[in-house]
Amino acid sequence: MVSRFRVPLIAFVIICGAGLLLWLGITRPHLTSAERGRRLAEREGCFACHGSEGTGGTANFGRSDGTVPNFKDDVMMFAHGPEDIREWITNGKTEAKAKSLTWQEEREKGVLKMPAFGKRLSQSEINDLVSFVMVTSGRPQPEDSLISKGLRLTGSLGCIGCHGPGGALARPNPKSFKGYVAPWIGPDFEDLVRNRDEFNQWIENGVSDRMKSNIFARYFLKRAVLHMPEYKNQLQPGDLDALWAYITWRRAQEKQ
Ligand code: HEC
Ligand code: HEC
Repeated sequence: MVSRFRVPLIAFVIICGAGLLLWLGITRPHLTSAERGRRLAEREGCFACHGSEGTGGTANFGRSDGTVPNFKDDVMMFAHGPEDIREWITNGKTEAKAKSLTWQEEREKGVLKMPAFGKRLSQSEINDLVSFVMVTSGRPQPEDSLISKGLRLTGSLGCIGCHGPGGALARPNPKSFKGYVAPWIGPDFEDLVRNRDEFNQWIENGVSDRMKSNIFARYFLKRAVLHMPEYKNQLQPGDLDALWAYITWRRAQEKQ
């Protein structure tokens, strides 16, 4: 009796094991550094002072600037680039600011003070926070006019609501295949967009022909909370070229 069941049982276990490994491999999340930073910022209390997702600092009573700076337009006045942002997060100040008496007085007057996170967080966690602050501040900024048009469209067409500034975030998307909206930077994009035609299909029809004809993909795309909208009736001639130019430029920047 025992031997009659042994072979099918072993085969069954092997098939289930292989299936599980394959499943875990396919569904493995590829969160971007900026997205890890966004999630960490939430857990570390940054948004209590810098506002939701760092987009609107709360009142800082006593200081002449009146509010905690945000991670969008205010960053320019506080940080020249990623190194300064890293200093702010690590030490709660930058070396340059610490030398200024006016800044020291201002800091003393305010009820809220930037904490130093250097001892609480690892280097890689701080790197993720820097990436998040950088993308929220709208960097990197393109110079080329077609690419800049693409960047503007990602704002006016509402793309960044779901994909995050620069397409760098992976916001939660319950019941979707990976549990988040696939960002434009990182390996998920290559799985979803093999060429320019597929890109156009996603933007115009909200899905690529390849995904539409795959029952498995269709099931997950359908049951997710967030869906890629169909933009075909909203686009002007040239918009797809500008969006494509922007996203390919953004991906190239990320790889540098
Ligand atoms: C208790 C309130 C508070 C918390 C919590 C806080 N900050 Fe700040 N942060 C400030 C204040 C106030 C400043 C302005 C610094 C100054 O001029 O004294 C600042 C400045 C900054 C700056 C430079 C200015 C800007 O907006 O770019 C960065 C970057 C920054 N904080 C990132 C963070 C991050 C990341 C976290 C979480 C890990 C965080 N902060 C948590 C209050 C806070
Ligand atoms: C309502 C949320 C939402 C909006 C707005 C949105 N998308 Fe999407 N987008 C999605 C979802 C969901 C997918 C499907 C892939 C997935 O499940 O992650 C997707 C897929 C894509 C893909 C396939 C590759 C990838 O990395 O995800 C591209 C490219 C894309 N969107 C670009 C855009 C552009 C450009 C805009 C603005 C014109 C835009 N999206 C607006 C939610 C959105």
